[in-house]
Amino acid sequence: MDRIVIRGGTPLNGVIPISGAKNAALPLMIASLLTEDTLELVNVPRLADVQLLLRILGNHGVDHTVAGKRPGQSLETGQTLRLSARDVIDTTAPYDLVSRMRASFWVIAPLVARFGEARVSMPGGCAIGTRPVDLLLTALERLGAEIEVDGGYVIAHAPRGLKGGEIAFSKVTVSGTHVALMAASLADGTTVIDNAAREPEIVDLANCLSKMGARIGGAGTSQIVIDGVPRLHGATHEVLPDRIETGTYAMAVAVTGGDVTLAGTRPELLQTALDVLAEAGATVQATNEGIRVHRNGAGLSPVDVTTDPFPGFPTDLQAQLMALMTVANGTSRIRETIFENRFMHVGELARLGARIRLDGDLAVVEGVDRLRGAPVMATDLRASVSLVIAGLVAEGETTINRVYHLDRGFEALEAKLGRCGAQVERIRA
Ligand code: UD1
Repeated sequence: MDRIVIRGGTPLNGVIPISGAKNAALPLMIASLLTEDTLELVNVPRLADVQLLLRILGNHGVDHTVAGKRPGQSLETGQTLRLSARDVIDTTAPYDLVSRMRASFWVIAPLVARFGEARVSMPGGCAIGTRPVDLLLTALERLGAEIEVDGGYVIAHAPRGLKGGEIAFSKVTVSGTHVALMAASLADGTTVIDNAAREPEIVDLANCLSKMGARIGGAGTSQIVIDGVPRLHGATHEVLPDRIETGTYAMAVAVTGGDVTLAGTRPELLQTALDVLAEAGATVQATNEGIRVHRNGAGLSPVDVTTDPFPGFPTDLQAQLMALMTVANGTSRIRETIFENRFMHVGELARLGARIRLDGDLAVVEGVDRLRGAPVMATDLRASVSLVIAGLVAEGETTINRVYHLDRGFEALEAKLGRCGAQVERIRA
């Protein structure tokens, strides 16, 4: 397996282009199952999760083409995918594919909405807590699907199609809201989703579905109303910028010092996280190109942060913030409220000399003067990149093992950091 070796201590200076959002691209690709026409997605990041989802969709019979690179396009320019689910041959999503990526479970919604049946393996994905699918299944039941679980598979039936209904989520869920949006778009009648997730990726999916002919109001608020239509058509849609990638590189600059423009992204996608960075001592400015983050010699201040659904501080930036706070001048408190067991990076950060105490869902991070490089292990997607951030500031060499987690979610990481002066090298297995 590949490893990444980082020699820390160099400030970052330059421009980092931000890719299309993984967490938007995945549901958008899945939405291609809702129509027999072609869905064209622009600015899709080149990531292992995208490749895996193409295989899963291919297994259902979805054809895809990737538009060739045009002259002048760099490595970081997203790809254009054309997806056609005209001839769906199989409504089963098998265990060996779904168990590798949790989001692929969401195919259940378009399959049952358009074909009246779906058989989808229970998901796997990042090892962060139990991550059940009960809320997704309840939402489908509210739209008239009959659900049974057999042999590790969820089987959903709606032989006469789905019917609009009222879905009130007991907890804010991104996956549940994506599933409800897709299913309700083809249901007969009106659906009201209460306590809907407000994440920008939900708005992006709703915008794309609307271009495909869906009738959706209120996306981005906690109540979404969908008037179902009998069929959806093709569309072209550009994937929104990745706010988690944006926040990750912003934290990398905050930890090393320097001056970097994160190009092609927007502050409103992650305002709470940018406010935290400013509180910690980085200067954050919106520019015509994107977001400029800089920090001079002044030290980092500690912060108190709780993860929350959007517009709160994202759980997907919790590990990165913790890496930053390991070298702050004082003690930070970081509370994780979205996922249990999302502190697996703590033990690895400790190997670099971080001082972190865990108390249930609270991490108390006592800033130290310096981290020292060491071999560490990537455990999940966001944890892995927190080790990159720590490695960028640690003295000496940090080797990150099991980097396939990074390849799932961060496009061209070494190239993007390397062009800003970081000493980052991939050692191929
Ligand atoms: C998505 C993101 C992930 C992010 C998370 C929270 C994608 C591909 N992944 O994950 O990166 O960390 O949102 O912002 O977009 N829950 C249940 N029952 C359910 C569904 C969820 O109890 O049926 C719980 C989960 O265990 C978790 C919480 O609800 O504690 C939020 O989960 P959810 O918002 O659904 O996260 P995902 O969509 O899986």
